[in-house]
Amino acid sequence: MTDSRSVRAVLFTSLVLFTAMFGTACLDQESVYGDDRPASTVPPTASQGMIGYVNAEQGLTVCGNCHAQPQAQWSGTKHAGAWEGLQESGHAQEFCESCHAVSQLGNANSVPSGWETTGDPRYLDVQCESCHGPGAEHVADPEAVQPYAALSVLAADGTTYLNCAECHNGTHHPFVEQWSLSGHSQVIGFAAERAECAGCHRGQATLLEWGVRSDYVERDSEEPLPVVCSVCHSAHDATFAGQLRFPVETTSIGLHLCARCHNRRPIPDPNSSHGLAPHSPESELIKGEAGWFPPGSGVAPGSIITSHGSEANPRLCATCHVEPFTVTNTETGDFEFQAVGHTFQAIPCLDEDGIPSGATDCGTDLADRSWSGCTGECHGSAEQAQGLLTFKVNQVEPLTEELIALLEIVDPNLDEEGGEIDPTDPSFTVAEGAFFNYNLATHGGDVKGSAIHNPQLIPALLEASIEAVEDEYEVALP
Ligand code: HEC
Ligand code: HEC
Ligand code: HEC
Ligand code: HEC
Ligand code: HEC
Ligand code: HEC
Ligand code: HEC
Ligand code: HEC
Repeated sequence: MTDSRSVRAVLFTSLVLFTAMFGTACLDQESVYGDDRPASTVPPTASQGMIGYVNAEQGLTVCGNCHAQPQAQWSGTKHAGAWEGLQESGHAQEFCESCHAVSQLGNANSVPSGWETTGDPRYLDVQCESCHGPGAEHVADPEAVQPYAALSVLAADGTTYLNCAECHNGTHHPFVEQWSLSGHSQVIGFAAERAECAGCHRGQATLLEWGVRSDYVERDSEEPLPVVCSVCHSAHDATFAGQLRFPVETTSIGLHLCARCHNRRPIPDPNSSHGLAPHSPESELIKGEAGWFPPGSGVAPGSIITSHGSEANPRLCATCHVEPFTVTNTETGDFEFQAVGHTFQAIPCLDEDGIPSGATDCGTDLADRSWSGCTGECHGSAEQAQGLLTFKVNQVEPLTEELIALLEIVDPNLDEEGGEIDPTDPSFTVAEGAFFNYNLATHGGDVKGSAIHNPQLIPALLEASIEAVEDEYEVALP
């Protein structure tokens, strides 16, 4: 028989707990809960320390009691509607649930937790604890323990998925699988170590440069983070589509996400020993501002912008390089794989099933690659896009060959020390400008990328360079 004194005792204890939790340790933020902050916060024992919602109907998390700004931002993200999305799909099954609810996926817990062990509706949706891990200890004493989120998506073994990747994987949303095939998953060790390079080559330094001051597990780690999901995506903030930290729906390279890093050395730098090699010049190239502009040639910075760099292409880089498409079985037509554009390749090489393989050295026949980044709203068909690429390559390649042959006459050892082309000598020559343009046109190992980024500027710069070298040094090809 329940005695009313013990009921009162429980109520009293809850009140004390409630006061301890919310009366004293709140952050200096205006509460989104107004005057009546919700009370019930003691998690079921089986939850493994997960608290979840205090009010599932209204989507009020226990964390949001004190962290009003993250709560307000998060409620505008798709994570906050993940359960409803699952139910409305009409395909909900038990195995779908742990990615659409608070569980051990996405955080430091490794044993079944939250929704998996309780089935309690307080754990529906992807909430704070999905990424921050169990919060019960922190809520009881915020100063003692802090549930930092972690940003790594691959363990050191290179195959175990962590954090965001524990949910964002599989044939329907293979974000981590595709990302792992991209340059963004690689760390270039010496670049990550050097302060002048780290802003683009070490995840932690990029976030600092972008004004992200929050704490997370790897923030002070010696181990550099590559360009992980949380470099490009904000965990909480849906101001920009796709929860990106900077928009891709803009033609301004001052604002565009990709242009924040892909803009290191678009023009020659006489003061650097690498000054004759472009370094991630893509953003300025697309705006017609990359390269050496031979004086008197009539080609001027910003004068040649094609549709790829104009309002005709409102997403700039993302149109071509972040293009999702569905792979179906060629015989049955059944769904096979949802490519999500996260190899970041514009015309990705495909394997025998039609799935992006991550390779970069396949041919340019129609079947070798996906052309869907070119079709869509722009080019009528894959055939047309592939034809235009071939036409461009056939126009630009001979110009690069002619230019380098001329430069070899002017300075047979090219950019080795001595001669007209000498990156260690701060005086700047016509041959050096022309050599920069040759490197720009062949950046990435062949002419495809540069020729597509600015299909008119690249041939114009090469032609102007050839003329400038012929005039300056009175040389000609036999
Ligand atoms: C009772 C109020 C309260 C609740 C509820 C609460 N926190 Fe906190 N949290 C704090 C306070 C206060 C701090 C700052 C502690 C300090 O700096 O010593 C903090 C710090 C943090 C930090 C570190 C932030 C930083 O700047 O270093 C994270 C992350 C965090 N909380 C996440 C959560 C999550 C996730 C939840 C829900 C499980 C939660 N908090 C619930 C009060 C609360
Ligand atoms: C491994 C974790 C995981 C499992 C298991 C999972 N999902 Fe999801 N689901 C996700 C992620 C991550 C997204 C977001 C992907 C995106 O935005 O492309 C998502 C998105 C969705 C969406 C929203 C799509 C949209 O266009 O907004 C629906 C509906 C959905 N899932 C249904 C299901 C169903 C039905 C199942 C089970 C048959 C399932 N999910 C199993 C992780 C999972
Ligand atoms: C517990 C599983 C889970 C974890 C952990 C998780 N997500 Fe998600 N995420 C989802 C699901 C499910 C959806 C789709 C919700 C829907 O559309 O209904 C989603 C949607 C998204 C979207 C789509 C937003 C949009 O507007 O289309 C982005 C971006 C995203 N997640 C990024 C992240 C990042 C970055 C992390 C790690 C910091 C992360 N997610 C961690 C399950 C998860
Ligand atoms: C999809 C994963 C994810 C979800 C969901 C999420 N967070 Fe975070 N949170 C992160 C990551 C990653 C960081 C660190 C990087 C950053 O700030 O972008 C972070 C940072 C924080 C910080 C530290 C801020 C600071 O100034 O140091 C707090 C506090 C916080 N989150 C609270 C919350 C609360 C409260 C919720 C739910 C309302 C929530 N988070 C939901 C992943 C998540
Ligand atoms: C180099 C930047 C970058 C990185 C790194 C990155 N993404 Fe994205 N992501 C994007 C862009 C750009 C979009 C497209 C947004 C749009 O269409 O508005 C996107 C879209 C998404 C979407 C939304 C798709 C939809 O249906 O709207 C999800 C989910 C997502 N990314 C998850 C991830 C995950 C998980 C990782 C890490 C494994 C990751 N991203 C890494 C740039 C990035
Ligand atoms: C935080 C900086 C950063 C951002 C933002 C960024 N990138 Fe990158 N990107 C890099 C770095 C660094 C590499 C080279 C990594 C390597 O080779 O190890 C790279 C490599 C690439 C490559 C492969 C080049 C190659 O063949 O080696 C492509 C394509 C690419 N990025 C496209 C994009 C697109 C598209 C966006 C915007 C959605 C974007 N990047 C945003 C830093 C960034
Ligand atoms: C403004 C951002 C930025 C800075 C700063 C930066 N890089 Fe890079 N770097 C990139 C991007 C983006 C790429 C990939 C795109 C490309 O190669 O066109 C890249 C590519 C590279 C590559 C690979 C080139 C290749 O051929 O695969 C190396 C090596 C490199 N960077 C080294 C460095 C070093 C060393 C520094 C410092 C002296 C540095 N980077 C500074 C953005 C930057
Ligand atoms: C019109 C489509 C298109 C647009 C817009 C575009 N790219 Fe590309 N990009 C390509 C193609 C095609 C390649 C060559 C791919 C290959 O060789 O497999 C390429 C190659 C690259 C490479 C590899 C280096 C190279 O030059 O081959 C990087 C890095 C890159 N692009 C980044 C970007 C960035 C950053 C932006 C935005 C400023 C951008 N791209 C805009 C189509 C595009």
